[in-house]
Amino acid sequence: MRQMDLATERGWIVGASRIVGFTGAGISTESGIPDFRSPDGVWARNRIVDFQEFVSSEDGRVEYWRQKVVSWPAMRAAEPNSGHLAFADLYRQGRLDALVTQNIDGLHQRSGLPADRVLELHGTTTEAACLSCGDRISSDEACRRVEAGERAPRCRLCGGFLKPATISFGQPMPVDVMERAWRAARNCDLMLVVGSSLVVEPAASIPRAAKSAGARLLIVNRERTPLDGIADSVVRGESGAVLPRLAGASA
Ligand code: APR
Repeated sequence: MRQMDLATERGWIVGASRIVGFTGAGISTESGIPDFRSPDGVWARNRIVDFQEFVSSEDGRVEYWRQKVVSWPAMRAAEPNSGHLAFADLYRQGRLDALVTQNIDGLHQRSGLPADRVLELHGTTTEAACLSCGDRISSDEACRRVEAGERAPRCRLCGGFLKPATISFGQPMPVDVMERAWRAARNCDLMLVVGSSLVVEPAASIPRAAKSAGARLLIVNRERTPLDGIADSVVRGESGAVLPRLAGASA
């Protein structure tokens, strides 16, 4: 594990042409969005409402939307930080093939990455979707309706359950996005993993697939992860400080 001697890692970045980024909530904490498993994370303050409970229980839907209304202002106010911007720099240098993210905050797109290069494995919290007809409304509108008393809002078109357009535990993953992520992982020459505890499957298997296919695996994370042992290098540090020093490599 290297603390902050990044000469080797910078050399790998400069020598790579098909980098795939893989990010978790840790890349957004410096934008004011809490991650999930740090001591002050989302799961330290909220119980998990999984997909089965959401679709089968009105109380579950009310709790889910209560949590959403509490978390939405910070998510909405967040701006991309230097970690997000570093990935956008790699894209402008022609080095970044795709950015696979578990994050739902939309900050990679707002940092300048084209939307078709950002593979959102767990969906997006910027919109709410009807589980029956698929109609979408903005999260601003959905939260306004909850705060106006509609504690578990229904679709205005078909009466179905409205849910933030994220993938909850137990909810099917987006097949097309997963297939593109697997393909990108198998074709990359370097996978740069940032800000993920790498404990949630199937997402956490994507960096493993990249390594198995011959890519270099570089992990930047505040804490240990289960993939540290197979990584070519682990940089223990804050993503906002580390990534610009990696992405600026070609400058
Ligand atoms: N710089 C580097 N690492 C950081 C930073 C930072 N500024 N902030 C937090 N971290 C690290 C934490 O130490 C932790 O190891 O980022 C990791 C975040 O891990 P999680 O909170 O588990 O988030 P993530 O890996 O994205 O969770 C995966 O779990 O709850 C589900 O669907 C949710 O997409 C999420 C999935």
